[in-house]
Amino acid sequence: MDQIKMVDLLGQHSAIREEIDSAIKSVIDSSAFIKGKPVQDFEQNLARYLGVKHVIGCANGTDALQIALMALGLEPGDEVLVPAFTYVATAEVIALLHLVPVMYDVNPRTFNTDGQASFEYIDELVTPKTKAIVPVHLFGQCSDMDAVKAVAEKYNLKIVEDCAQALGSDFRGTKAGCVGHIGCTSFFPTKNLGGMGDGGALFTNDDALAEKIMMIANHGQKVKYHHDLIGCNSRLDTLQAAVLDVKLKHLDEYLDSRRKAAATYTRLLKAFDPLERHVCTPVESDFSTHTYHQYTVIVKDREQEITQDTCTRDVLKGFLAERGIPSMIYYPLPLSDQAAFKGLARKREDFNQDAEDSLHNSEYLARHVLSLPMHTCLPEDQINKIVEAIKEFFRK
Ligand SMILES: Cc1ncc(COP(=O)(O)O)c(C=O)c1O
Repeated sequence: MDQIKMVDLLGQHSAIREEIDSAIKSVIDSSAFIKGKPVQDFEQNLARYLGVKHVIGCANGTDALQIALMALGLEPGDEVLVPAFTYVATAEVIALLHLVPVMYDVNPRTFNTDGQASFEYIDELVTPKTKAIVPVHLFGQCSDMDAVKAVAEKYNLKIVEDCAQALGSDFRGTKAGCVGHIGCTSFFPTKNLGGMGDGGALFTNDDALAEKIMMIANHGQKVKYHHDLIGCNSRLDTLQAAVLDVKLKHLDEYLDSRRKAAATYTRLLKAFDPLERHVCTPVESDFSTHTYHQYTVIVKDREQEITQDTCTRDVLKGFLAERGIPSMIYYPLPLSDQAAFKGLARKREDFNQDAEDSLHNSEYLARHVLSLPMHTCLPEDQINKIVEAIKEFFRK
């Protein structure tokens, strides 16, 4: 058996190597490295795939989020609702723009902005300064956008969807990132649609927002050297666009491979542990498809492994590593506990002195989640080996 990898980009690219080589060659031949035709072609093809009016490429997913918030015209001190359990970029750009991240909790089974944990107390977090909400579609599945839209309508908030991990997923038949005002994605190499370097994009159905986004991503100019807005330099590289356009044709096939691998994991893990006494497999929401950017389980604690510094999840991770099985912890700290956000972020306790543990699901998940190998070329015998190792661990 080949070595088990967390992700296998070489395997993915080997199958389409000729198409990729020829796309890269044509960019080199054209020498149009900045804003070349493949950028427009890819933006149009992705817009068609998503069923959205505008796709605007940019340099990476973090920039996409920053540009989205800039395009909404938020003022320093405005507040933005954001989940505490996500990748740092989602909240980092809020703080970077001198806005205030206000953190709410996530559903402990879907990891998302979804259900009671996210919405029960959201009214307490809203002030006259609250201007936007940034739901994240973590690990490949959509947040509950009906509930997000209801909050946004009630308080007149803009919705920026972070679909960096869920490109291609559907929320009730609409593609992730195309439900709110602006969708933001990343083409980081390991993403559902990954380039060969950095890349990102914004999606919107709003013509005026699209124009503003294009300007901001291009130094605030519409006419060369006439700068109407303060912007930034954030372009999707032509070489990346050419590669992404090739890979876009295969995206649905890639997503199917991920779903197939996930179904195998879930079948084997549930057969071993039907009552989820040790490992909870991912829950699929009825309002969203799941594209399994990550296959993330929740590892329950056993008394013998818990110390001040470790938990069963950490011990299992080490046990798998000893058997040549990689795994990852996305994410080991909720954003509210990250040093960088000290004094910058708010949570329910800052609005209501009777509140406590308002982010307890995010804290629990940070200590219990484990992401297992997941990619588009993961063979069934490798999944079997991974699950056998998990079984061996819990039979000890
Ligand atoms: C949820 C989420 N948001 C934003 C980003 C930022 O994307 P990038 O790495 O392209 O800046 C990522 C990428 O890792 C992500 O997973």
